[in-house]
Amino acid sequence: MPKPRIDPKSALVFRRRLATWFRRAGRDLPWRRTRDPYRILVSELMLQQTQVSRVVEFYDRFLNRFPTLGHVARAPQRKVMESWEGLGYYARARNLHALSKEVGATRDGVLPADAAELRTLPGIGAYTAGAVSSFAFERRAALVDTNVARVLSRVFAPRLKPKSPRDQKQLWGIAEMILPRTGKAAWTHNQALMELGALICTARIKRCGVCPVSAGCRSRDVVRPE
Ligand code: ADE
Repeated sequence: MPKPRIDPKSALVFRRRLATWFRRAGRDLPWRRTRDPYRILVSELMLQQTQVSRVVEFYDRFLNRFPTLGHVARAPQRKVMESWEGLGYYARARNLHALSKEVGATRDGVLPADAAELRTLPGIGAYTAGAVSSFAFERRAALVDTNVARVLSRVFAPRLKPKSPRDQKQLWGIAEMILPRTGKAAWTHNQALMELGALICTARIKRCGVCPVSAGCRSRDVVRPE
């Protein structure tokens, strides 16, 4: 399949509009106020399969019980699982415990900054590795989850199916192609992509009338005036 091409000018305009919108409309969420890799990791694990509002209810309580990765490593798995109660998908808590043990044993309890290294840890997939690298370490790392995949396919490559494993590779390619030059700008850009998928370009509804990047979007709905 031919690679989708995105001209640099379109990518630049997209980045600028997206970042400007995010600074104005992005939500103030607890994990956007920290760069602590452990706290970012916990937020990203909780946010897999779970709504933001629900995670907000549980996040601080969990972090009060387990303020560092070392606290998780020293606790019995059962205690970590108990503190996950209410969030469901307990494999995430089990993985966090396994990861804390491994990082404690092999890395002095320090999470790596590099996405490829993060990817080798228990329960860390490509998305979470990119998210921790970008959101905690402000590295210039790409990330694609289901929301970002949907946004990127709609805007740049409507023939790609966000849920098709075959098209995933191309969507990661697009995410890399449009990434800003610096890690700091990539932090904002990645958060903004997630936010656009959560607030404007959702699975259920496309709010093209209020979308900051609709002008260059290849799936834009024609918005009729009332
Ligand atoms: N889902 C996963 N990561 C997120 C983030 N950083 N902000 C909002 N929703 C998310």
